[in-house]
Amino acid sequence: MAEMQATAVAHPNIAFIKYWGNRDQELRLPANGSISMTLADLSSKTTVQFDPSLAHDSFTLNDKPSTEAARQRVTTQLDFIRQMAGIELPASVVSHNNFPAAAGIASSASGFAALTLAASKAAGLDLDGKTLSRLARRASGSASRSIFGGFVELLPATTDEGSFAQPIAAADHWPLVDLIAVVEDSEKEVGSTQGHQLANTSPLQPARVQSAPQRLELTREAIGQRDFSRLAQIAELDSDMMHAVMMTSTPSLHYWLPTTIQVMRKIRQLRRQGVPVFYTLDAGPNPHCICPEDRAEIVETTIDEIQGVKRIFRSEVGGPARLVENSSPD
Ligand code: PMV
Repeated sequence: MAEMQATAVAHPNIAFIKYWGNRDQELRLPANGSISMTLADLSSKTTVQFDPSLAHDSFTLNDKPSTEAARQRVTTQLDFIRQMAGIELPASVVSHNNFPAAAGIASSASGFAALTLAASKAAGLDLDGKTLSRLARRASGSASRSIFGGFVELLPATTDEGSFAQPIAAADHWPLVDLIAVVEDSEKEVGSTQGHQLANTSPLQPARVQSAPQRLELTREAIGQRDFSRLAQIAELDSDMMHAVMMTSTPSLHYWLPTTIQVMRKIRQLRRQGVPVFYTLDAGPNPHCICPEDRAEIVETTIDEIQGVKRIFRSEVGGPARLVENSSPD
């Protein structure tokens, strides 16, 4: 029997136009499209081995057996792949992130992109980017964007076939940097899977979803023309709109901490002083500060001076999910 093992590396991404809420929970069809930038310096490396001698799937994350809930999520994703490949074998999944588990940076995008690529290869499938992206979306919407490098758009659709990500510009199109200010490094109280289900309880969600196509278009244009001030304006607005939806959901989700707001204010102040930089936040309290590479030092030094910022991760724009040797360094 051919060796049914493969290893893949994938990077997380930061969304400029956010995905929040599903049109179809079961199929994980996003309520609106989203656009992100893939992050080179953070990565997940995942090895999948289908093995007839196993009693059931096993999942090890950062050298520790995972929680039952995480293993279940991995099994659900493996089931889609087993079904496509026509196999029924259990698998062992071993995954490592090169960023600390307690960094407050979601690893679901990079983790599920790497899992989907490694598992499909190990199962003998040779899937194209579109199919991989569609499959990854079933585990985590943001994972569908991490299949690709550079600047990536996830298309909303009413069917499973129609909702997948596609690259809109290559990684070297625009040398931007993401400085992630870690203000809280414990696990989030409410993760995005649960959060998406609350989106429709906010009276602001319909307005956010309805106006998303316009923001998506402006963002596509801003990226195409490398128009930083336009991107800054739209991305900050979009992040604030998503958090407004979160705050006005029932129950409400308040992710911002006092230091989060201090960083946001400092970023706006820097911009008034002429430094091109903007903030954007995922479902957590840690601001991502985006700026051109040649301004990263001044932004990093300024943010670092804020008491309450525990550490800063820096990342450039990264490439797509890819297959690697199991022995390759993380
Ligand atoms: O992919 P998920 O289910 O973890 O959802 C991602 C949600 C946000 O990170 C808040 C926004 C986004 O588009 O990445």
